Amino acid sequence: MAPTRPLSGPQEFDPQQAERQKRAAAEAAAELVQDGARLGLGTGSTVAYLLPALAARGLRDVRCVATSPATERAARALHLRLDTLDELGELDIAIDGADQIDQQGWLIKGGGAAHTREKIVAAAARRFVVIASAEKTVATVSAPVPVEILRFGAHSTLRALGSARLREVAPSPEGNLIADYFGAIADPAILAVRLSGTPGVVEHGLFAPELVSDILIAGINGLEHRQGGKRD
Ligand code: 5RP
Repeated sequence: MAPTRPLSGPQEFDPQQAERQKRAAAEAAAELVQDGARLGLGTGSTVAYLLPALAARGLRDVRCVATSPATERAARALHLRLDTLDELGELDIAIDGADQIDQQGWLIKGGGAAHTREKIVAAAARRFVVIASAEKTVATVSAPVPVEILRFGAHSTLRALGSARLREVAPSPEGNLIADYFGAIADPAILAVRLSGTPGVVEHGLFAPELVSDILIAGINGLEHRQGGKRD
């Protein structure tokens, strides 16, 4: 997904700086995990920095659930212990990246097409921590919004959504198709209800502020810690 515009106005996007910021946010989040934690692992390039930072901490008895096959493979390679979400039940903490983070705390996720599992894991966690580089911050979230849809009647579902098209990516691990909604977002709460209520939609990538506990944004001036609406 294309990098989103920074709040502070037009700036040159510096990919190396963004990578350093992703790493800084991920390393700060790794410090929040304690021995014995049941931990949800998100998906994406920011989470890719989280996994080695977690492994390096040498925590005891941490059991993880991965939100995608890619995260599962990377976690296994680092000898992080993996279980299913149903084996773990309620999670102590889940950590994940985001495509956009707005000033009201709304997120757009699913640039990596993993938002359905990511939302289930975020909802199952007492604490959901979002990690991001500063270019992910926006004033208000805007299209595209990733949407996972059933194969059956996919074109009817796209028509019902309006301004939506299939993304050329592999199906989700559940065998569903990934699309993107390109309409305007006047109010993310209203759009979230509409997307969820469209027959054939499995899950969309709008994450409400109530799902999020903490947002760690690494920028040129260091780490910004925003509180979300979810309290333990
Ligand atoms: C995957 C996601 C990712 O968290 C989101 O796309 C951010 O990815 P990255 O850390 O690579 O920028 O929602 O479905």
